[in-house]
Amino acid sequence: MSKFIAFPKDFVWGCAASAYQVEGAWNEDGKGPSIWDTFVHAPGHVVNGENGDVAVDHYHRYKEDVALMKELGLDAYRFSISWARVMPGGTGGVNQAGLDFYDRLVDELLKHKIEPYACLFHYDLPQALQDKGGWPNRDTAYAFAEYARVVTERLSDRVRIWMTHNEPWVTAMAGYFAGEHAPGIKDVKSAFKALHHLLLSHGLAAESIRAFARQPVKVGITLNLNPVHPTSQSKKDRDAASRVDTVLNRATLDPLLKGTSPIHEFSIGKLLSRSLIKPGDLEKICTLDLLGVNYYTRTVARYDPKFPVVAAAQIHPEGNEYSGMWEIYPEGIYELLVRIKKDYQPICDIMVTENGVPVPDGLDFDGRVRDERRIRYLRDHIAQIHRAIDEGVPVKGYFHWSLMDNFEWAHGYDQRFGLVYVDFKTQKRTIKDSGHWFSRVMQTNGYEY
Ligand code: FCB
Repeated sequence: MSKFIAFPKDFVWGCAASAYQVEGAWNEDGKGPSIWDTFVHAPGHVVNGENGDVAVDHYHRYKEDVALMKELGLDAYRFSISWARVMPGGTGGVNQAGLDFYDRLVDELLKHKIEPYACLFHYDLPQALQDKGGWPNRDTAYAFAEYARVVTERLSDRVRIWMTHNEPWVTAMAGYFAGEHAPGIKDVKSAFKALHHLLLSHGLAAESIRAFARQPVKVGITLNLNPVHPTSQSKKDRDAASRVDTVLNRATLDPLLKGTSPIHEFSIGKLLSRSLIKPGDLEKICTLDLLGVNYYTRTVARYDPKFPVVAAAQIHPEGNEYSGMWEIYPEGIYELLVRIKKDYQPICDIMVTENGVPVPDGLDFDGRVRDERRIRYLRDHIAQIHRAIDEGVPVKGYFHWSLMDNFEWAHGYDQRFGLVYVDFKTQKRTIKDSGHWFSRVMQTNGYEY
């Protein structure tokens, strides 16, 4: 028998997006190139050679998009700011026209009573800083703190919630180890250096934001986290899963929530110079008012000595549904939230800042988009979040990824994640069935499950 699952009274419902994936206008109004501009314009990096030059043209259509958010009934919108739009060279000169765009966006959101959650970095490093070494260079962390100051000075009279980074682990590992994201580097040492400097830059930016904010603010970060399961109960597989967990989850959670680093406990640490983590770094990193959890899937691992660093291979078990990108595993979000509470006892707020599924949606004969799979995915995942809240994990909000279909990095426009369908040729927006479903959930603060 189904019952109504009700969320806490002040639970925040929202959607998330990122600058490069939606804005377009890649070279307008004084914006400098980012590493994603460079990466997509070189052949072989993105499905069908696609790019985000236009994306879903949010830069020009933000009013229409905020009106859609209003129609759906969002409490909050999490967006990212393009560093290269604000500071085309990464440091030094500020491009006022670039800042003006975020100014207009924030005003438009507030006009419709939608709380802006501003994220300072979602993968798109100014190319000028990559030319000086990118995230593996410690100086980039200090440049980030300067950029944080510039944006805080302009927007913090209206923006109260600041996220420094989106998924620093992905920035480091997909960008500098796997080479699947910009800047396309494949070097394990660079990736771990990048990860430490990204975390350090969180701490330095948190200091800037708090020092220059024009009202009390919250400073958070958003992490990609996956529960890691061994494929069998053998000691080898369990140890393999534990190593993957260290690299995937503890590498960011420990520094941010405990002020410790697991890197040197672990074989990869031996590749890195001891001086990577300087005295005082971990104290700086360990500061959070809000932990954002992005959840899409779990990882299942098997011992396999062929793989470097973790001696583990990822396997895709039978028995569950899969999407165009991942296994669908709703219990994982519950497991993760309970584990964060148990292992870290965080004193900061916790929110789910991304969750969603790609579905090969299309317009039906009558112009509707019947994305039943997404509705099922959301029902099952949000119910698991409710279960964690029931068991005492203080989850304060949920952001769906994403508001609209958009540019999905190396997958180009192949994977549609939106509650709103976008015809990429005409830029016409159509609310999908899942958008209508989510809208009702937000209005009634829960649903029958
Ligand atoms: C997350 C990213 C986001 C989007 C979703 C599907 O890892 O933060 O930009 O690509 O995955």
